[in-house]
Amino acid sequence: MRKNIITKLLILSTTLTLSSFYVSANSHSEKPKANSEKQASTAVTFRKSLLQLVRSNMGPLGAMAKGNIPMDADTIALNAQRIEFLGGMMHDYFALETTGYDVETGSKDIIWKEYKDFSEKADDMVAAATNLQELVANNEESKFRSGIGSLGSTCKACHDKFKKD
Ligand code: HEC
Repeated sequence: MRKNIITKLLILSTTLTLSSFYVSANSHSEKPKANSEKQASTAVTFRKSLLQLVRSNMGPLGAMAKGNIPMDADTIALNAQRIEFLGGMMHDYFALETTGYDVETGSKDIIWKEYKDFSEKADDMVAAATNLQELVANNEESKFRSGIGSLGSTCKACHDKFKKD
């Protein structure tokens, strides 16, 4: 009995220590900075590649919404699932600050000053992609077009603030 209480207390204190560590690690808002032009340039290559994959999955959905190609539920679900996954990767792939280096980037410096807002806009894209998959799962065909539109507007919302023209 007594041993049981001690064990519980130990687990509790360990959990508390770990969670306070976690909170302090996360509340540290300063982002890591690239320490060489080479590192900055590699980071730019990776994040552009990530967005090219987002683009390649969004392209067919946009064409469906415009009526240029027929609506296809399976493609919508698959591409939305991929965009959801890629969106989740944005937090990590943009984390390294590359300001001050001579790199060819469409990213505005403000990203790393307002990383929380940037991350939330990535989350908005993820949420819209999740929602689109749910529309397909529920056979809500009449809402496919607006669901694709909502996803597309999350691209624009982020680009308007964080991407160079
Ligand atoms: C959270 C912000 C954010 C969201 C959401 C977002 N983008 Fe972007 N996107 C950027 C930024 C920043 C860049 C510039 C990247 C760079 O050059 O460093 C970019 C660049 C791009 C590029 C150019 C990549 C290159 O090779 O230069 C394409 C294409 C693109 N985005 C498509 C999309 C599409 C399509 C969506 C929505 C489905 C989307 N983006 C959603 C922030 C975002």
